[in-house]
Amino acid sequence: METWPEGQRVRRQKNAELTLTRFADSEDHRPALMAAILRLAQGSRFARRYIRAFGGTKVDRVAEWEVPEADLVEARACEFYRRVHGVAGLRVLESWANIYRQGDYSMPHSHPGAAVSIVYFLDLGDPDPRDPISGQFAVFDPRVPACCRDQPDCLTNPFMPKLEPGTMILFPGWLVHGVNPYTGERPRITLTWNLAPA
Ligand SMILES: [Fe+2]
Repeated sequence: METWPEGQRVRRQKNAELTLTRFADSEDHRPALMAAILRLAQGSRFARRYIRAFGGTKVDRVAEWEVPEADLVEARACEFYRRVHGVAGLRVLESWANIYRQGDYSMPHSHPGAAVSIVYFLDLGDPDPRDPISGQFAVFDPRVPACCRDQPDCLTNPFMPKLEPGTMILFPGWLVHGVNPYTGERPRITLTWNLAPA
């Protein structure tokens, strides 16, 4: 599978510090990668259980898993950074998968030390008709008009981009973001990389 498919489109979110791209071939690696992450979460040396507010279960160090599908998506994340920021060399500071189960969420936070962070949405989990923003990734930025609908600079509405499985997003490490409490049954699975220039 190609690291960067021919004609892969990159889109900057209007008025927000987010750049997005979606891999149309993601179905080809999703089942194997999800199975590998769920297997590694079961007591491997990469697994860490966090409190609910820190995003549930994490599986660290993507490049050490020896899973070809994980190597592919890491190569894509690195290439995404190169293409958007024009860096020649880069360092992967940290990388991990997150498994959100019912009740897991991520409080607003940023990623200190990272020039950029990249999140790959492998499985968005189950939609909840009683809670349409369950498990949604959200940005908290008072400079974004959509976050301040009532009064400029007064943040009232987290910005939640439309995401699909196979979407990869890039944002500066300082950007405050979080994940709403997840209420579905199926695990919601994402991968994250914190990157910096070499
Ligand atoms: Fe984060």
